[in-house]
Order: sequence, then C-alpha cells, then structure tokens
Amino acid sequence: MNFELTEEQLTVQEAARSFAQNQCLPGVIDRDTHMTHPTALLKKMGELGFMGMMVDSKYDGGGMDTLSYCVAVEEFSKIDNSCSVAMSVNNSLVCWGLEKYGTEDQKEKYLKPLASGQKIGAFALSEPEAGSDATSQRTSAIDMGDHYVVNGTKNWITNGGKADIHLVIAQTDAEKGHRGINVLIMEKGMDGFTLGAKEDKLGIRSSDTHSLLFQDVRVPKENRIGDDGFGFKFAMQTLSGGRIGIAAQALGIAQGAYELAVKYSKERQAFGKEISKHQAIAFKLADMATEIEAARLLVYKAAVLKDEEKDYTQASAMAKVFASEVAMKTTVEAVQVLGGYGYVKEYHVERLMRDAKITQLYEGTSEIQRIVISRGLLT
Ligand code: CAA
Repeated sequence: MNFELTEEQLTVQEAARSFAQNQCLPGVIDRDTHMTHPTALLKKMGELGFMGMMVDSKYDGGGMDTLSYCVAVEEFSKIDNSCSVAMSVNNSLVCWGLEKYGTEDQKEKYLKPLASGQKIGAFALSEPEAGSDATSQRTSAIDMGDHYVVNGTKNWITNGGKADIHLVIAQTDAEKGHRGINVLIMEKGMDGFTLGAKEDKLGIRSSDTHSLLFQDVRVPKENRIGDDGFGFKFAMQTLSGGRIGIAAQALGIAQGAYELAVKYSKERQAFGKEISKHQAIAFKLADMATEIEAARLLVYKAAVLKDEEKDYTQASAMAKVFASEVAMKTTVEAVQVLGGYGYVKEYHVERLMRDAKITQLYEGTSEIQRIVISRGLLT
C-alpha cells in the first residue's frame, strides 16, 4: 500500500492548484452572487487538459488515471465548485461512458471535442418524478426504425444550458422496465429540443443548472450508445464513477474550509492569544483534519480500484457518502471558527458551506449511497 502520489499526480495537483488560486479565485464571489457562468475559465481548463483528463490521448484526452483526476477536482473544489462540477460532469458522466461504450464514429464526432474542452457535455437522467428512482423514466424514446422520437422533460441538469452534447436517458419500452431504457446522444439545437428554467440555487450558483424540454425530437439510431435497452446499466455504471468525482469535490470543499479556518485561527487574537491556541478551537481543527484524512483515503481508494479495473461500486458510494458528510460538517465548523467573519461572503467559508450541501444530493443522495452500500453487503 503506497500513500504517496506519483510525480505525475503531484504535477497535476500543482497545475490545478495554481489555476484555481490564480484564475478561479479572483471573481469567484461575484460569479456566485450573480450566477455568472464561468464560461471563459472552463474554456481555459479545457485547453490545459482538465475537461477530458482520463480519456485516451488518441481521442484528444489527457490519458491520466482516476487518482490524478481526483486530485485535480479536489484542488478546484477548494476554490470554485461551479468550475469543479462542470469539469467533473464532463469528465466522469459524459466522456467516460462515451469512451467505454461509444462507437468509433461517436468517439470521433462527440468524444474528441468534449475531451479537448472545445465542447461541454451534460448527463440528463433526472426528471421531475424520477430523481432517485431512476428506473421510472417518463421521457420516451420511441423506436421509429432508423431513428427515435424523444418526448419529455429533464430536471436539474448540470451544464444543461451550456452543453453542446447531452447524454439523454429515456424509456423506449416501458413494459421491459429498466431493460427498456436507452441512452441517446443529443445535440444542442436539434429540432424540438429547448431549454426550460434555469435554477437559482443555494450553492454552486455560477454553475449552469437547467431543465431540458424535448418535443418530438428526432434522434438518429446511430446516436444510441450500446445495445437496445442498455441505457439503465449505462447510467448506473457511469454514476458509480461519477460519484468518485463528487466525493473528490466534497473532499476539496472540506479541505478548503479547513485551510481557511487554520489560517484565520492563527491570525485572530482573543483573550490574549491566537484563537488556535485555545483548546476549543484546536480540538475543532484536530477533528476536521482527522475526518478529512479519512475521507481522502476513501476517495483515493475508490479511484485506485477503478484504475485497477476492480469493482468500485461500493467503494465510490462509501467515498461519496462519507466525504460529503465531512464536507458539510467541516464547513459548518469552519464558519464557527471564523465567527461573524465566517458568515460574510468575503471570507469564502459561507460559500463553501452552501456548496457542501449539494454533494449530499447530486449523483445520488446520501440515502441512495447507503442503498448501494447495503445491497453490496447483504447480497
Ligand atoms: N453497474 C452496473 N449495473 C448496475 C449497477 C451498477 N452500478 N447498479 C444496478 N445495476 C443493474 C442491476 O444489476 C440490475 O440489472 P439486472 O436486472 O440485469 O440484474 C439493474 O441495473 C437494476 O438494478 P436495481 O434493481 O438495483 O435498480 P433499482 O431500481 O433498485 O435502483 C438505485 C437502484 C441504486 C437506487 C438507482 O436507481 C440509483 O442509483 N438511483 C439514483 C440515481 C442518481 O444518482 N440520480 C442522480 C442524477 S445524475 C446527476 O445528479 C448528475 C448531475 O447533473 C450532477
């Protein structure tokens, strides 16, 4: 068991840290306040290879391992979780499945521009009445021979309004249940494909979250990924990997809040000494550091299992449920350490606290992760 990052992973970490500090940090409060999408930053992140990190270089990706991706997500998430979620969805929920199950034509046409960051992707599973219960898809994709006709609505889609390419999960044959679900590649601008409302959110406010509306959208058969009826398993497998990215995001949020709390507690004086020297604060910092380290070990373990092509379904759910709870707890405690300063935007921890909550909700709530973990234990 080796707990050291490799030279390559350390280089990725440093590059992500430097970009996040120098490019994402200025303006992050303003973007969050005004829900301004970080379009230009994502473009630059794409040019630096952060949007398709794990994709093979022959498809214009970075050819890196999952651990490198996790350390990059962690660094961005210390600073700007709107950038990190856009990046995470593009890498894990869109590029991964296209590379693993797409045809060569699909990879040429869709994966290459996504992996190089020229285009942005979205993963459209959730519906008004099918968030956790993913088999209950109402969006229909009726088989018309050489094409599908898609009707329905998708909700809370990260990158939804900005994406050029969408992986859309839809029901073709309701009688077959989850075996009647397909995944189709849909492009922005297809006839009948329009955007619904943009969400005004508690956290990750400058990320783009939209509903998508499909009215008789004609999608060529060659845009289906995998065999007929493979869509549900595709979604489940994709989400298993995606959860490692969200766990890394939660880890970064916790680490970011912890670092701000340490810095502040060494500067702030009360009762004649730095507050870090008061046991009440020192013990809080000790607990934060311990829990963050435990979360990091779970996240990195899930990443390594994926890279070793071992089963990572349970490990990714464990990493996500634990890291997201640590993110929530750590950010609340960091606000407490900073006191009144923690409650104002200028000091960043209140934003991290708001951002932390979404890590317990998206790509499966904490309850869903516990279902996945317990099913693995009990079967
Ligand atoms: N890998 C491969 N196959 C899997 C799988 C996995 N991880 N998980 C399940 N399957 C397969 C099962 O083996 C089963 O196949 P068979 O019938 O052939 O045996 C089939 O899928 C159905 O599985 P279940 O019976 O377990 O399905 P279920 O209806 O009980 O649901 C669930 C399981 C875990 C609760 C699932 O519905 C789930 O994960 N729900 C949460 C969905 C989710 O994460 N939504 C978030 C939206 S995406 C998002 O947030 C993106 C964003 O914008 C940031």
